[in-house]
Amino acid sequence: MAGRVAIITGGARGIGFACVQRFLDDGYRVMLADRDEYAGQEAINTLDMPESRLAFLHCDVADRLSVHNLVAETLSAFNQIDVLINNAGIVARGGALDVSEADFDRVLAVNLRGAFLVSRAVARHMVETLDKADDRSGLRLPNYNIINISSINAKVAIADNLAYNVSKGGMNQLTRSMALELAPKAIRVNAIGPGSVRTDMLASVVDDEDAMGKIYSRTPLGRIAQPSEIASVAAFLAGDDASYVTGEIIYVDGGRLALNYVMPPRTGAGS
Ligand SMILES: NC(=O)c1ccc[n+]([C@@H]2O[C@H](COP(=O)([O-])OP(=O)(O)OC[C@H]3O[C@@H](n4cnc5c(N)ncnc54)[C@H](O)[C@@H]3O)[C@@H](O)[C@H]2O)c1
Repeated sequence: MAGRVAIITGGARGIGFACVQRFLDDGYRVMLADRDEYAGQEAINTLDMPESRLAFLHCDVADRLSVHNLVAETLSAFNQIDVLINNAGIVARGGALDVSEADFDRVLAVNLRGAFLVSRAVARHMVETLDKADDRSGLRLPNYNIINISSINAKVAIADNLAYNVSKGGMNQLTRSMALELAPKAIRVNAIGPGSVRTDMLASVVDDEDAMGKIYSRTPLGRIAQPSEIASVAAFLAGDDASYVTGEIIYVDGGRLALNYVMPPRTGAGS
């Protein structure tokens, strides 16, 4: 994958950061985009890569101008975009009876509208690049693709996470719809639906024995995932081994969606 360029949103932490690490290991040049300037700079310092391999841009995916700037700055730094990972995401508590309109809008703006805005901007660039190529008949097509980080909550709901469930359900349809639209250009669009992953998003429950017990009771593999276990699936989807995969949602959930009963209690379950 040497020389290919990936944009990874929400790349300063958690799953996004693991994707940045994995894609750098695989030889990609990476634009790490995050709205948290401090965490972004810290990530860059930790990774300690030359500017020719890694750049950070402060970007709010919910803001169209910020997204426009992300594409422009990536092209200015690396001259091409091969892969986009829409990973930036947030949660807000509340069901239909009590979630505030502001929280509903905030979650949808980042998780769904944000993914749409970045996908649209990147896809327009990809299509323009393909259309500009004079004669593609003898050339190998670039392996352009978009990966959305969805969730099992696109399929199964948590009652007091209404906005999040809705946003991820929408993201799955964004994935399928764009996959069909871009297939004639050989641009692939897929999603990953993680179960429970050890990141800041899960920080409120990892030290809570009861909450973790509930997670284990519905997770056949009996542990939560490491962020690198999501990044490895993203690396597969982005690469040539997935050249015939598009419009697909891959659930990386330790068997959770396959389960039709509750797992027996586990003592000393792995983390
Ligand atoms: N952790 C889990 O268990 C889990 C499970 C399923 C799906 N996911 C999804 O994976 C993705 C990453 O989650 P995580 O657990 O690593 O979260 P996290 O909170 O650890 O990291 C999210 C990153 O996104 C950034 N971000 C948030 N809003 C942004 C915006 N508007 N623009 C740019 N960056 C923004 C944050 O600053 C942060 O660096 C999310 O889309 C989340 O919904 C996580």
